[in-house]
Amino acid sequence: MSELDDAVKLLKAGEVVGLPTETVYGLAADATQPRAVRKIFEIKGRPPGHPLIAHLHDQSWLSDYCSGDLARANALAARFWPGPLTMILPRRAELVPDEVTGGLATVGVRVPSHPLALEVIGALGRAVAAPSANRFGGVSPTTRAHVLHDLGDAVPLVLDGGPCAIGIESTILDLSRQRPYLLRPGAITADELAEVLGERVWSDDGLGPAAPGTLESHYAPRAQVLIVDAEHLWARASELSSSCRVGVLALFGAEPPLELNVAVIRISGGVLGAAHELYAGLRALDELGCELIISPIPPPDGIGHALSDRLERAAATRP
Ligand code: TXA
Ligand code: MG
Repeated sequence: MSELDDAVKLLKAGEVVGLPTETVYGLAADATQPRAVRKIFEIKGRPPGHPLIAHLHDQSWLSDYCSGDLARANALAARFWPGPLTMILPRRAELVPDEVTGGLATVGVRVPSHPLALEVIGALGRAVAAPSANRFGGVSPTTRAHVLHDLGDAVPLVLDGGPCAIGIESTILDLSRQRPYLLRPGAITADELAEVLGERVWSDDGLGPAAPGTLESHYAPRAQVLIVDAEHLWARASELSSSCRVGVLALFGAEPPLELNVAVIRISGGVLGAAHELYAGLRALDELGCELIISPIPPPDGIGHALSDRLERAAATRP
């Protein structure tokens, strides 16, 4: 028996499994089994009532799990699925229990592009509910080792799909209201969505249901995070290193001056490289015992908007 077969067996039996996707690793359960979905909340320490994303095998499943007019959803699915786009739509309660949606009348759905995730969902024949496989409020996992570090004792199996290709969570678009609203930026940008829809995509007006990940402090490492203008990065790091243990997330290949006594994780490759390594970098600086992590502001283009969003949430003061 392969690990993939084991994963499908566990899911059918109502257990949870760590599953790679192209964005981040998920903590998966059969979305149609309420008891299995409740285990996700227990293991993550996620407050009940926070809705989960249902991962589908392909676009043909959309009408099984969602209801209403699916014209806009189908147009976007044809262009962006499999891929990092989650759409919020009216749910079909027969297949989507309250445990998945936190009692909401809507459900978030996406088709991930990681081949392992697709094989598991296809063999299960059911949608898989999966939040990011980290403890609630913490940094999302982008490798199997991250999942084992956070939840290893509590999860019977974590499939290994290598490092996630994208590295930050999917774009979330709310299509349950008249206007399309961007709830969470990701690799697929509002401009790309608007182009397919032929209409403007609005930024979240906060009138939809409050949801985690839209909570201010989220995606946070143990260390405090400070975002600074790229040109002041090393000066600020040097200044602050006299009062605490500083780590620098040197995005975009920023070169540290030789005399500086701070921990540095250098990440090259523009905004895509930065997204790919963001969470691994935050985790590594935490592991090094940094009390303060300093990062430059990303440029606003492409996935840079999503990068800024995650850094700002990581930097938000915790309650
Ligand atoms: O890339 C991703 O989306 C990853 C991978 C595993 O697919 N998943 C992920 O799940 O980031 P999670 O649970 O960490 O974040 C899901 C987000 C939350 O902000 C949640 O509130 C929102 O989706 N969400 C889910 N269903 C919703 C709904 N019906 N209405 C509004 N927001 C919803
Ligand atoms: Mg999460």
